[in-house]
Amino acid sequence: MKTNLGEVLVNENQIKERIDELGAEISKDYEDKNLLVVGLLRGAVVFLADLVRSISTPIEFDFIAVSSYGTATKTSGVVRILKDLDEEIENRHILLVEDMVDTGLTLNYLLKNLRSRRPESLEVCAFLVKQREGQTLPFIKYAGFMIPDHYVVGYGLDYSEKYRNLPYVSVLKSEQNE
Ligand code: PRP
Repeated sequence: MKTNLGEVLVNENQIKERIDELGAEISKDYEDKNLLVVGLLRGAVVFLADLVRSISTPIEFDFIAVSSYGTATKTSGVVRILKDLDEEIENRHILLVEDMVDTGLTLNYLLKNLRSRRPESLEVCAFLVKQREGQTLPFIKYAGFMIPDHYVVGYGLDYSEKYRNLPYVSVLKSEQNE
């Protein structure tokens, strides 16, 4: 399918401002805690790299990779761990960093999995949260932006592994829709 970029949904300035706010909030909430930030590969890498630099308290980070069986544009709900954490998380304060929560299936699976390892606390920071009709998502303590239900790329988000390096978030258009 041929694709091209449409409307910019979140620009570079908006991203920077919001990350500063989130960083300040997280720094305050975890002031005296030894926080382990867990990034979900691959999409969250860009957001995580900026977010951790806006957190002023000492933190560590680790990564987990999952595969959600499905097509290029749809998740199926079946999730498998491709790369597990390197760290043990029992009794630790964990902040799971996601690039986008869409159906919430990936997040639900991850939260259940991580909770079973008995961390001291477990919260979520998601860069984008899609607004869908009648959707009940798991609790997301730190949400960057709520966005409408469009296919979006950039700032870590891909279409067939492309567009992740865009410094902003844009709607992706397919030629069939034009
Ligand atoms: C995206 C995103 C979330 C998931 C959200 O990952 O990073 O993990 O989909 O969808 P859901 O809420 O409907 O489960 P993707 O599978 O595209 O992998 P990527 O991070 O490597 O791009």
